[in-house]
Amino acid sequence: MDFSVAARLRGLPQPATIAIAQRARALKAAGADVISLALGEPDFPSPPEAVEAAYEAGKRGDTRYPPVGGQPALKAAVIAKFRTQNGLDFAPEQILVANGGKQIIFNAFMATLDPGDEVVVPAPYWVSYPLIARMMGGVPVEAPCREADGFRLRPDVLRAAITPRTKWLVLNFPNNPSGAIMERPDLEALAEVLREAPRIWVLADEIYEHLTFGGRPHVSLAAVAPDLADRILTLNGMAKAYAMTGWRVGFAGGPLPLIRAMTEVQSNATSGVCTLAQAGAAAALGSPFERVAAMRDVYQARRDRVVAALRDMPGLACAMPDGAFYAYPGLAGLVGKVSAGGRPIGSDLDFSEALLEEAHVAVVPGAAFGLSPHVRLSFAASDAHLDEAVRRIGEFVAGCAATG
Ligand SMILES: Cc1ncc(COP(=O)(O)O)c(C=O)c1O
Repeated sequence: MDFSVAARLRGLPQPATIAIAQRARALKAAGADVISLALGEPDFPSPPEAVEAAYEAGKRGDTRYPPVGGQPALKAAVIAKFRTQNGLDFAPEQILVANGGKQIIFNAFMATLDPGDEVVVPAPYWVSYPLIARMMGGVPVEAPCREADGFRLRPDVLRAAITPRTKWLVLNFPNNPSGAIMERPDLEALAEVLREAPRIWVLADEIYEHLTFGGRPHVSLAAVAPDLADRILTLNGMAKAYAMTGWRVGFAGGPLPLIRAMTEVQSNATSGVCTLAQAGAAAALGSPFERVAAMRDVYQARRDRVVAALRDMPGLACAMPDGAFYAYPGLAGLVGKVSAGGRPIGSDLDFSEALLEEAHVAVVPGAAFGLSPHVRLSFAASDAHLDEAVRRIGEFVAGCAATG
């Protein structure tokens, strides 16, 4: 049959992650002991309160279509969370609950982007922002966040990325993949630039907010610059801090007209989120925060071990991530070498492929995130896996030799 996809899909680049993931699966299927540090998925169980509440919701028959924008109980929990944890005040109509943080982004871009509209995406970035923007006819514009700046977005870099076509700025801190955070003065400096550009909306993706290390506080842009709140969409969700990736519950608070338009998009796509998942999410938001803090402390201990080990490897340079659960070491010292198995390392993609083939460790090449030569390693994995993965990476790196 003659099949061709719609134009909106035709131009989409294949994420660099796909080939690595496919090869990892094939190696595993062939019996290889592959360790994957490629996924951004907590290895903890979901809160028991969430599981219990979902079960109870099912038993009492809370199984009908929910309101598109979110159930009142979850909206109330989200409003309380934004107020107490972020210093942000929202009315129920300013909240949208979606199938994961990802659907919030999808709704927002679908509701607002016209062909040619630009979305400033600081690099390195989570792969979905530019892909979703492109799908909606938008044009992603990269704003480089250099390692020398701690992977933070500098105001002059933001200013240089803005054009008359800019519709959105995406701010994702703590950042996937770099682990960088933005502190109050950093955000104040960006707010100054945004005041000069009154047409621009900001997607503040704060999904890693509770995973900051060394006692560093997370600060919300909308709290730092309340005068800009009428164009900031603050995104969060249950996946990362509460280890609830499979529940598919994300949410956002923002200005009424934007939330209304996003809700209309969602009503024509998925309608409201699964009632049981919403009951679970509301219960998790009300559960003891110490559990989230305990998971954060585990991530911090793993970060310390992984980064210390990576820093000991010749040719690798690893910045200390202040948040999220990824290390993003630079490979500049290895590019140009050849692996022990004879594979030339010309890029982070080459490194990732060779590491997978020769050491059976899966990581994601920085090319996928718009900043090379780096790789992303997730430390959302057990200590045993991390130790073994780091041992193999060390052996692999030590085996890389200069050519000629
Ligand atoms: C930066 C960032 N934002 C949003 C999400 C979306 O999470 P979910 O759709 O699972 O809620 C992810 C997931 O990997 C992420 O890394």
